[in-house]
Amino acid sequence: MSELNKIALKIISDGKGILAADESNGTMTRRLKDVNINSTPENRLLFRETLFTSKSMREYIGGVILYDETINQTTSSGKSIPHLISSSDTLPGIKVDIGAKDLANSSGEKVTEGLDGLRERLIKYYELGARFTKWRGVYIIKDKFPSKLAINSNAHALARYSALVQESGMVPIVEPEVLMDGDHSAEICLNKTSEVIRKCFDELILHKVDLSGIILKPNMILAGNKSKSKISNEEVCMKTIECLKNSVPSEVPGIAFLSGGQSEIEATENLNLINKNNNTNFIMTYSFGRALQQSALKIWSKNTKDTLATQNTFNHRVKMCSLAARGKWTIELENK
Ligand code: 13P
Repeated sequence: MSELNKIALKIISDGKGILAADESNGTMTRRLKDVNINSTPENRLLFRETLFTSKSMREYIGGVILYDETINQTTSSGKSIPHLISSSDTLPGIKVDIGAKDLANSSGEKVTEGLDGLRERLIKYYELGARFTKWRGVYIIKDKFPSKLAINSNAHALARYSALVQESGMVPIVEPEVLMDGDHSAEICLNKTSEVIRKCFDELILHKVDLSGIILKPNMILAGNKSKSKISNEEVCMKTIECLKNSVPSEVPGIAFLSGGQSEIEATENLNLINKNNNTNFIMTYSFGRALQQSALKIWSKNTKDTLATQNTFNHRVKMCSLAARGKWTIELENK
């Protein structure tokens, strides 16, 4: 077993998953504004520190993805954030892309940037304690989109990123996110997501990335959020498994889904069904941002000093996601 494979398994085994707390300052400002909190470095740190000191971290969170600002911050107790996370036997990770930018010659599509100087930045992040990383490619479904140009250029960037990350001794999270925005059917989401993921693996293999030392972070297969044809959770589950079975090489140890705008319950229920019906060898778990933090953020915004109330809410959500990662979640447990 390679060192990278060991790190990947430590993050996602035994019902553990990933807390995606790597919102850029822009995104975090929007999230805080929604709950009437000023987006200052101190407030961003306070909310995150409240989550990272929760007792559910040790049991259910294998890794936390951080943003550059956060990985460099020091907590009220004087510990660095990566040190605080490691003290729960959880691995610190870091988002290393610098965002999705307009893709030239394809109006409306994006390509993710951040390869320039990446090798040097990775060395710094490793020294700060990071053991895994994230890079998100983003694709839209609309008319002829995602275009071959967007599919190829994002796959190429994800592969070059992954090769550099493994060279630095860290596990790359490969995140090709096909957005749920639009009126497309789940069948179209299935076809497009499969095409996107297959192209990513073509490029990862070309760039000699060790597939046993990555974690794939895809979207679930959903109908577009403006689609008239709603589909059941069972269909989401079956189509998601079909997609991954047909497009992910068997060496990949695990898949950690993004929540992508689903509600907390929806994302949990879908993950639970996926695990109940998982007939693949892949571990299937969570790497949720909003679906782990939304309720906790609301409670925190009511009284930012009431650490216990925020942590209770977060602990419940994390436990529900972990049950789902083992196919053991029920609505009764959710409402208990
Ligand atoms: P969501 O679960 O809120 O989609 O965030 C996950 C993530 O890391 C997006 O890049």
